[in-house]
Amino acid sequence: MIGIVRSFAGGINVNTIKALERSSVVIQEAKNYACRTPGVLLINCDLVEYPSVWEYAMSLEIRPNPYGNHLSAEVRGIDLAHTLDPETIRTIHDAWVDYKVLIFVDQHISDAQQVEFTRRFGALEEFPMKAVRSDAHNEIFRVSNVDTQGQHLPAEHNTVRYLHVTQKWHIDSSYREIPSKGAVFRGIELTRHGGETWFCDLEQVYEDLPAAMRKRVDPLRAVHDFEVSRRAVGNLTPLSAEEKAAVPVVEHPLVRVHPVSGRRSLFLSPVHMSHIVGMSIADSSMLLGELIDLAVQDKYLYKHRWWPGDVLMWDNRSLMHWAQPFDEGVLRRVMHRTTLAGERIASAGP
Ligand code: SIN
Repeated sequence: MIGIVRSFAGGINVNTIKALERSSVVIQEAKNYACRTPGVLLINCDLVEYPSVWEYAMSLEIRPNPYGNHLSAEVRGIDLAHTLDPETIRTIHDAWVDYKVLIFVDQHISDAQQVEFTRRFGALEEFPMKAVRSDAHNEIFRVSNVDTQGQHLPAEHNTVRYLHVTQKWHIDSSYREIPSKGAVFRGIELTRHGGETWFCDLEQVYEDLPAAMRKRVDPLRAVHDFEVSRRAVGNLTPLSAEEKAAVPVVEHPLVRVHPVSGRRSLFLSPVHMSHIVGMSIADSSMLLGELIDLAVQDKYLYKHRWWPGDVLMWDNRSLMHWAQPFDEGVLRRVMHRTTLAGERIASAGP
């Protein structure tokens, strides 16, 4: 019977589950099914899979994601639409640093609520390109191939082409003097094929480097440049003078120290990096290529498949990420990101 996957419009919440439990609807549990939390509802002979269905919580619960490959935790039992008390925010903050990716399950929030929730963790950035910001909330970066009127944009449209930058490994706003510390990312229209978000644990990658390599990379610095990533996808509308002024070329340590956990990680943001300072382009490309190849091994990755109601929060100080390509001509994908401004990077070098 496994094969048809559908979700409720608007998602399943605790009240829906309770109503189903009281009704005559047949509920079956399916093990070994490749969803985040095994749980399948059989309703009127339609198979409806929803990851949170069995494990709804009445109060805050944060559990390691069993499919997370040592990264990520699921957060249940809170509603991000409401103002959360300081203790809950502290708990979420600590879990965010520990697990690096938090998956808030079954959330149905507005743009304003997303902005308000993100602000509880610090000041927000505005994306440098005006064309991809939401008109109503400048702090929202629309990662979308659908415009605000609901029109599916053609693949050659400037904003759709820009999405291809997010489809390459990066750390959000590594091209800023003070890069972002994290992001909240909300799925609004999801793709059934492609469009997953992959994360790479750059702290673990650093820890596993041979000692000689750690010694070599610790003192190095690299150049990050917003235009490098724009050139990588080619032919984008030029930035205005104001947009350009907001993102001058910057240098950052190649190894950074997390300001909260004190752990070291590689500060690798391949799509925005031009070269390592003081090296020839050839040597720099060879070293960066070697580090990237080491980093993107499966053992360091968590591949998030999106479900209705998912809101993710990730730590840009310990991870890099990218979106998987999807058929942009056929499928619609609408995701809204709020981005937390960070703190000056602490170097592992001298
Ligand atoms: C991003 O890089 O911020 C977006 C990732 C995604 O679209 O999955």
